[in-house]
Amino acid sequence: MNIPAGEHFRTIWLHPDDPTTVQIIDQRRLPHRYEVVDLRTHADGAIAIRDMLVRGAPLIGATAAWSLYLAALEACSSAKSLDRQLEFVRSAAKTLAATRPTAVNLRWGLERMLAVLADASDSEAMVSKLRAEAETICDEDIAISRSIGEHGAELLGAIAAGNNGKPVNILTHCNAGSLATVNWGTATAPMYVAQERGIPIHVWVDETRPRNQGSQLTAWELARSGVPHTVIVDNAGGHLMQHGRVDICITGTDRTTRSGDVANKIGTYLKALAAHDNGVPFYVALPSTTIDWTIADGLRDIPIEERNAEEVTHVSGLDGDAIREVRIVPEGSPVRNDAFDVTPARLVTGLITERGVCDASEAGLAALFPERAGEEP
Ligand code: MRU
Repeated sequence: MNIPAGEHFRTIWLHPDDPTTVQIIDQRRLPHRYEVVDLRTHADGAIAIRDMLVRGAPLIGATAAWSLYLAALEACSSAKSLDRQLEFVRSAAKTLAATRPTAVNLRWGLERMLAVLADASDSEAMVSKLRAEAETICDEDIAISRSIGEHGAELLGAIAAGNNGKPVNILTHCNAGSLATVNWGTATAPMYVAQERGIPIHVWVDETRPRNQGSQLTAWELARSGVPHTVIVDNAGGHLMQHGRVDICITGTDRTTRSGDVANKIGTYLKALAAHDNGVPFYVALPSTTIDWTIADGLRDIPIEERNAEEVTHVSGLDGDAIREVRIVPEGSPVRNDAFDVTPARLVTGLITERGVCDASEAGLAALFPERAGEEP
């Protein structure tokens, strides 16, 4: 199956002919291969999240949600009583919650799915409620991303208005694109909406070592959608900013505190520092599902995932027709691989959410989400 060029696509869906199977794109194979993978059990879903067949905070949440639906199907075939089945689903939620620590959408998606279990009067109701909730989570994510796009495109339009017809140069890090969500993306959604509105843009795409989500996933997405872009090495952004080649940075986030600190892919903090030094606005695009209202201090309280050394010691790429991995670090050299960093709110110009753009501060978020602001941290 190939995605037609230029068409926006979903990243997770129920198999059209088999409602017991969820399908995803194996993002480890992009941009060289487009392969769809079947998830039949919650363990398949857990592996897909842990091994990063799917990644990006909103898509991790959506995959966890669908995985609990699969757990419910498994429970019905292995346990007779509703109590036992519910126990199985709750234990599956614990397994899924342990797959990746930083993206708070994982916890959010699981909690939302577990909440509907309270109304399940029998096995059939349990399965159908979980299926409906997973579908709703995905539909909502698409609508949220689209709204982020509309609000972010206003910012891009305002910059374009003062740019004498020159394209707005946007720098982005990692992949906060369609592939990181159910569709549209967070950081990329304003780019896609700007393109629809005829606002001229050009995107600097950080390659994003070690896994290269920028050069492999963001570049692939933007190319398919005809968005002008250039891939740069991770260390180039500061230099481009010093030379006036960046009008705005927009990144995604895996977890945002109630005070506006943002955790995102490692290297985001350095881009925010460079943007601050050069007077370049630094925006973070996020669905409200990525806000962790229970914490205020990102540096202290956001758990940072440490991943395996092979991501640093090896790179994969296309060699003729084959995807191969090669070692680039000497055998025996120790390696450390922190996957995320925290950018303090003071370095963030604004947060682009589905309800509008706000200051990266407790007051800014509270004004947009008053129903959550009263919760105890
Ligand atoms: O490790 P990943 O690829 O899951 O990290 C993804 C990111 O850091 C994204 O920028 C973030 O999840 C926002 S996605 C809309």
